[in-house]
Amino acid sequence: MCGIVGVLGNHEAAPILVEALKRLEYRGYDSAGIATVNAGKLARRRAVGKLVNLGDLLVHEPLAGKSGIGHTRWATHGEPNATNAHPHRSGPVAVVHNGIIENFRELRAELAQHGLTPQTDTDTETVAMLAQHFMDGGMSATDAAIATLGKLHGAFALAFLFDGEEDLMIAARKGSPLAIGYGDGEMFVGSDAIALSPMTDRISYLEEGDYAILTRAGASVFTADGKAVDREIRKIEVGATRIDKAGHKHFMAKEIAEQPTVIAETLANYISKSGEIRLPDPQIDFSKVDRITMVACGTASLACLTAKYWFEQIARLPVEVDVASEFRYREPPIPARSVSLFVSQSGETADTLAALRYCAGKADNIVSVVNVPESSIARESDLALPIYAGVEVGVASTKAFTCQLTVLFVLALKAASQRGELTDAQLQDHIAQLRRLPALMAEALDQNAKVKETARKLSSARDVLFLGRGPLYPLAHEGALKLKEISYIHAEAYASGELKHGPIALIDENMPVVVMAPRDRLFDKTVSNMQEVMARKGKVILVSDREGLSEASIGVWDTIEMPDVSDAVAPILYAIPAQLLAYHTAVAKGTDVDQPRNLAKSVTVE
Ligand code: AGP
Repeated sequence: MCGIVGVLGNHEAAPILVEALKRLEYRGYDSAGIATVNAGKLARRRAVGKLVNLGDLLVHEPLAGKSGIGHTRWATHGEPNATNAHPHRSGPVAVVHNGIIENFRELRAELAQHGLTPQTDTDTETVAMLAQHFMDGGMSATDAAIATLGKLHGAFALAFLFDGEEDLMIAARKGSPLAIGYGDGEMFVGSDAIALSPMTDRISYLEEGDYAILTRAGASVFTADGKAVDREIRKIEVGATRIDKAGHKHFMAKEIAEQPTVIAETLANYISKSGEIRLPDPQIDFSKVDRITMVACGTASLACLTAKYWFEQIARLPVEVDVASEFRYREPPIPARSVSLFVSQSGETADTLAALRYCAGKADNIVSVVNVPESSIARESDLALPIYAGVEVGVASTKAFTCQLTVLFVLALKAASQRGELTDAQLQDHIAQLRRLPALMAEALDQNAKVKETARKLSSARDVLFLGRGPLYPLAHEGALKLKEISYIHAEAYASGELKHGPIALIDENMPVVVMAPRDRLFDKTVSNMQEVMARKGKVILVSDREGLSEASIGVWDTIEMPDVSDAVAPILYAIPAQLLAYHTAVAKGTDVDQPRNLAKSVTVE
């Protein structure tokens, strides 16, 4: 999961490349680099760590040239250092790469027989070496790049630049996304449209196996077998082309605060003023659906686990949920009368895309819930449901998660209504509860200062448990994941009733236990589990509503009060304290909230 960019421009390439890389840094930030061709000569600048380090280097060692490529890295092969930073170069060839070349060791062995030995630990360098080898054998730059592509196994989005070629770039895509940007007498490539939005809004996407030969006059696109094709050029509205923190200290804080607004936007896109649910075409007839299979990764998979409760309890539809990295290797049978549903903020997660491809042709309905409508997962679905969260930059998913839940809840209501499991009155009641959500979220956000105090106590913990029952159980997992991924504190989640079957052995006076428990029909049972924790000196943080706190907060370590909310909608609302707790704990610990160590926003490698 790296970000690549390329420009054949009429202005100095270096600042354009760096600006584009800023918009791609969410995809990886272990190192960054650019290469340009100036007066026919290739040159590179690379720096380990955040993009700002490359910016510093370019101040002291500027790079001229109007043709260039750039890269921001999340390390797959070879540790994060300047040597392993892209662009990689071999003789007259420079290349940037997002993905994994699975046969790079075999290719290295072949190249060694021709006297070409690697200088780095990376798979990507092998790509440049192979192109050099073909050029050494007399091929043109273009033919050498095409010949190289034919030898690569694995996933790649690539951009090649060549010594002596000021008006030539070769781009290719297999498994990792790549966009082509059309300017006025300038051409661009990038891992996504957001990166290219300052330069152009005219974008086409390479399809699986495509390669493109770019000059400033335009792009010629070919399929893997060399057939010329036209890929549609679309005008892309990148919602917030101004990607800034809007006065917040971190993107994550901004995106948590945006949730009342974006949830209102999502609801307005799916529910008419008269209370009618409106889904985009093609319509699904849930009366002809016997089962839903939901597949995703990370936070998106927890949105699926939450939605399972809604589809099963309200629509009476059996649901199977699995994480994408396990799903297709189980080789599950997929009945035709089913919906295979894929949730992905980026729409580019390799595991989830692979799972979608496993289901294609099997299930009658391939449906995705995405935040990027032009993403690979959306484009390969029969029906793509946008979540309207707006650009989410923070690596830890927040507003996308609650927007995913909102869309999934609306879909469950639609299914229930079509299957005769909900009367119109019941449907309208659920819709009324959903419509309260933006205001309730704003009220929950008012607890920010209180949560910040609680987080300060939590920040010294070594381990934390999260408990929940019913649809709050997947949310307990989301709270644990948020805390882990940005504060680096070990956290686990358990179904409240499961604690006594082993994990309660962990409980002592050093163990904070966050209990997510609105005063719902399972509350009393959760309180019993909570008492078992407190009887063993566990430090309980009870997250509940006024009634729940008045009944059960005696003896707890801390409390967070939430507004009253319907049982069904509670998991969406209770995401707010989970997010705030993780955020403020991470800030108290001084970790990098928006770009946590070892992570990237979009995991486009398996
Ligand atoms: C969430 O906070 C994480 N950043 C991660 O689990 C993420 O949800 C997961 O990688 C899936 O990403 P996607 O939604 O873009 O497919």
